[in-house]
Amino acid sequence: MSSGLYKALKGMKDIMPPDIHIWQDIEKKAREIFASYGYLEIRTPAVESTSVFIRSIGEDTDIVEKEMYTFQDKGGRSITLRPEGTASVVRCYVENNLHGLPSPQKFYYMGPMFRYERPQSGRFRQFYQIGVEAFGSSRPEIDAEVISMLAHLLSGIGLQELHFQVNSIGCEKCRPGFKEALLSFFEGSFDELCVDCRRRYSQNPLRILDCKVGRCIEIRKGAPSVLDHLCIDCRDHFQQLLELLEMLGIRYTVNPEMVRGLDYYTRTTFEVTSENLGAQNAVAAGGRYDGLVKEFGGPETPAIGFALGMERIVELLKMTLKYDLPAPEVFIAVIGERAGREGVRIIDDLRVGGVWAELGDWTSSLKSQMRRADRLSAGLVFVIGDDEIQSGHVKWKKLADAATGEVRISGIRDFIIEGKQA
Ligand code: HAM
Repeated sequence: MSSGLYKALKGMKDIMPPDIHIWQDIEKKAREIFASYGYLEIRTPAVESTSVFIRSIGEDTDIVEKEMYTFQDKGGRSITLRPEGTASVVRCYVENNLHGLPSPQKFYYMGPMFRYERPQSGRFRQFYQIGVEAFGSSRPEIDAEVISMLAHLLSGIGLQELHFQVNSIGCEKCRPGFKEALLSFFEGSFDELCVDCRRRYSQNPLRILDCKVGRCIEIRKGAPSVLDHLCIDCRDHFQQLLELLEMLGIRYTVNPEMVRGLDYYTRTTFEVTSENLGAQNAVAAGGRYDGLVKEFGGPETPAIGFALGMERIVELLKMTLKYDLPAPEVFIAVIGERAGREGVRIIDDLRVGGVWAELGDWTSSLKSQMRRADRLSAGLVFVIGDDEIQSGHVKWKKLADAATGEVRISGIRDFIIEGKQA
């Protein structure tokens, strides 16, 4: 039962120990893997001008239509909490002329994103992504690199049994032909489409393929496949990517019906899903966005990236792995004020040496200090009182197996640190 006057906002949650350790493990693994693929960290603001997102994600998308946290700041500007990271990274890339640096430029980021969605299991209003973006190469090798890096990361953190789905949604050359095909397919059922899709019909018919309304899902059965409308270059690109994925041993399925919920994609799109999650089963997704840098006022620059959803990954990991709270290596129980003071010196010495050490409260009974050591699952416990200070020697006890021993007080640091190294 919760107490207190305040609650976190709907769809937003606290991340606390022990879960936070799972988060940190994932972040650490991601940093290691990204480093070996040559991706450097980038941090962009959590808030941008609203137009950054409208321009990139697209006016007819669910995110822009319904889900943005948009406010007026005190200067009357429209600003938005970022619903995703790609738009901000592209804005940063163009603003800072990073296209002037040798290509490809490869970045990664981690942080909170905000979407005003209806919260449900696996869907939050503040959620965290780890994402990557690679700029400056249109080669399918970089698509394969990004996808294999994601596969490597997911398996590296202990996730198996995930499904990789890939698709190509063409480029500005072949998209018009596909749009035409969609328009003639939906023409006969136009009146049955939902209000949004009727608008999408004239503005952006591809988005009808992403509509969540049951009737629209029914109507679009049998709609033309994007793969039948790719131009030769896009078909070649996609074919080469599939061959590379096979060579790298990445198991995938081609899903021509996968339409991503963001407008900036061109050519390759992909999604990773898990059968062990409910309706919100996408753990990561991404694709190419060859036109976006230009759209933001930069030079023609092909690019590709992905983002994974931390909460969903953590949820999956918690199904199979058991995480415990970390425990201090040393606990020093102290009897009397003098020993209490000596304890402060010893634990400080240990902590400076990189050892997690905790000190009992000399005003509490030895029994209650030992109870605390037990609750913390401390490794070694020392009990120091006047006698120990007098003799200069102290007994230790290993809580796990009750082994005991004795050491000079002045030698505790070496005993622990050298013992650690041994
Ligand atoms: P996205 O598919 O919108 O793509 O989001 C990527 C991942 O973020 C999803 O697969 C999911 O795991 C997680 N996610 C999205 N919304 C929520 C939510 N409300 N609650 C919890 N998790 C969520 C993008 O954001 C693109 N920027 C990816 C990208 C990068 N494409 C190219 N570069």
